Amino acid sequence: MTNPTPRPGVMEIEPYVAGKSALAGQQRVIKLSSNEGALGPSPRAMAALAAQAQTLHRYPDGGAGDLRAAIARRFGIDAARIVCGAGSDELIALLTKAYAGPGDEVLYSQYGFVMYPISTHAAGATPVMAPETGFRTDVDALLAKAGPRTRICFVANPNNPTGSYISAAELRRLRDGLPAHVLLVVDAAYAEYVSRNDYSAGVELAETCDNVIMLRTFSKIFALGGLRLGWGYAAPGIVDVLNRVRGPFNVSSVAQTVGVAALADLAFTDAARVHNDVWMPWFAARVAELGLEPLPSVGNFVLVRFPAGPRDAAAANAHLARDGIIPRMVGSYGLPDFIRFTIGTEEEMRAVVASLSAFMKG
Ligand SMILES: Cc1ncc(COP(=O)(O)O)c(C=O)c1O
Repeated sequence: MTNPTPRPGVMEIEPYVAGKSALAGQQRVIKLSSNEGALGPSPRAMAALAAQAQTLHRYPDGGAGDLRAAIARRFGIDAARIVCGAGSDELIALLTKAYAGPGDEVLYSQYGFVMYPISTHAAGATPVMAPETGFRTDVDALLAKAGPRTRICFVANPNNPTGSYISAAELRRLRDGLPAHVLLVVDAAYAEYVSRNDYSAGVELAETCDNVIMLRTFSKIFALGGLRLGWGYAAPGIVDVLNRVRGPFNVSSVAQTVGVAALADLAFTDAARVHNDVWMPWFAARVAELGLEPLPSVGNFVLVRFPAGPRDAAAANAHLARDGIIPRMVGSYGLPDFIRFTIGTEEEMRAVVASLSAFMKG
């Protein structure tokens, strides 16, 4: 007798390890492990959630019409080119399954978001990693690895966990250098936090190229990770493919209604951006003063390098845990000397700096 066997590639998946949210023996924790928005959800989003309770017996709008219209309004883009998903994770998985399979290659950057190789294995395709230079996506390295078997190239911009980004010109150079048959996925999960004038989330490329999709999420600046809501913006051909492979009701009615309310609350996302503009550089500067090495970040998180020896990343993590603080270890990214810290509230960031300070001086 043989047991049911998954498709090739599935057992090669290193299961995704989510940011921890609890510590044994600690009642109150400071959770800075998943790049969730520091201020929590918009009050308008929370009010919409309560109102939606009355109609939970109804199936959602399978086409997410109101939500796509609200996204289109907010970002000044075409609703017909938008497709919504249960988080951008779902869209990453659907794209990989739709465009790649056994014998195909999927390209991503060395420290790129870990869901790219996971989804590639799940599709039975082969992940191909291009080395980074200075913890930044290297366009030339990606182009050097692209070939006839390449089906997809994933770029997180800004990237998680490094916090680095590539300019609009570099992104354009990447797209222009890739063979036309390669789908370029520009994953702009943290776009709203970026205030560099040479940055683009990828809207123009998605609007003008038949082989580009931009992905966005409600999990970061909108602080709605629990809702599972993301969206893609692409040429009609790519949107059509996603609409064929997604579940008919992949985005819940709750997610649609709350998403529309969150989009309308401009003041809330402005406040979240201003908060990050203050506390991200503040945290990076304090960490540097302690003799640690924060990598330059344009997101709502900072990757910090710890020295080898008694004050290494593992020891720091254990010390922070004793103080009830949960950052994110990134050994699974090949970065065992680093810890990633999400930017939380002022109180949380002051507590982290106090804990790190005691650790470094202790
Ligand atoms: C670069 C990047 N892409 C996508 C995601 C997934 O976001 P979502 O919650 O929309 O699935 C994350 C979440 O951490 C991320 O960092």
